[in-house]
Amino acid sequence: MKGIILAGGLGSRLRPLTKVTNKHLLPIYDKPMIYYPIETLVRAGIKDIMIVTGGNSAGDFLRLLGNGSEFGLKDIYYTYQEGEGGIADALKLCEHFAEGNRVVVILGDNIVQDDISPYVRRFEQQDSGARILLKAVPDPERFGVPELDGERIVRIEEKPAQPKSGYAVTGIYMYDRRVFDFIRRIKPSNRGELEITDVNNHYIREGDLHYDVLDGWWTDAGQFESLFNATQLIARERLGTGIGS
Ligand code: G1P
Repeated sequence: MKGIILAGGLGSRLRPLTKVTNKHLLPIYDKPMIYYPIETLVRAGIKDIMIVTGGNSAGDFLRLLGNGSEFGLKDIYYTYQEGEGGIADALKLCEHFAEGNRVVVILGDNIVQDDISPYVRRFEQQDSGARILLKAVPDPERFGVPELDGERIVRIEEKPAQPKSGYAVTGIYMYDRRVFDFIRRIKPSNRGELEITDVNNHYIREGDLHYDVLDGWWTDAGQFESLFNATQLIARERLGTGIGS
């Protein structure tokens, strides 16, 4: 199993914080944002990690993370995404890195309380397909939202005005090698991006998208409110409850 962290994009929703630096280098309480997804993968036993960066300050990732020894890694792989082609466009750059292996993909601005190891182990036991992680949220319209028929996901909609469930599709995705074929088949969305939701809908059509629901807290950190929320959640973990409540 290999790990991929997507840390490109221009972070336009966080301007002016991201005018001269990359979103994933901004602080979440006491560490740069990118530390959290790296720690999430390492905790799940994933040691082969590719970081897809892009936009501003791409060289700073190397200065900050070096060869990954701070995380117990032997080395870290880096690649560069031009422009803002979307999550699936960034993932496309990792086909040679994956070398036919299964991958765990995490968005660089997704911070999760749980150890994801049990979900990764369940994915390893699947014969094939994909596995995603859902979380009940108060504002599903900000995310990819699954439509459920009983226990089964029948479709995922990207940022629907009228969400069909109260769940967000979190930015932690597990894929078999077919993911790269599905990416080749999708077209840019209205916002001009190759959407990971379209990739996941391909797996649904193949009857091979599985999921778990996260128990602990989860947040993205791509907007002012969620960045602030992420900082408060981490501060509470470090200092105990009472901070920001
Ligand atoms: C992306 C995905 C969305 C997912 C979210 C999780 O949204 O497109 O499906 O729910 O990440 O953080 P974006 O951050 O690109 O708006």
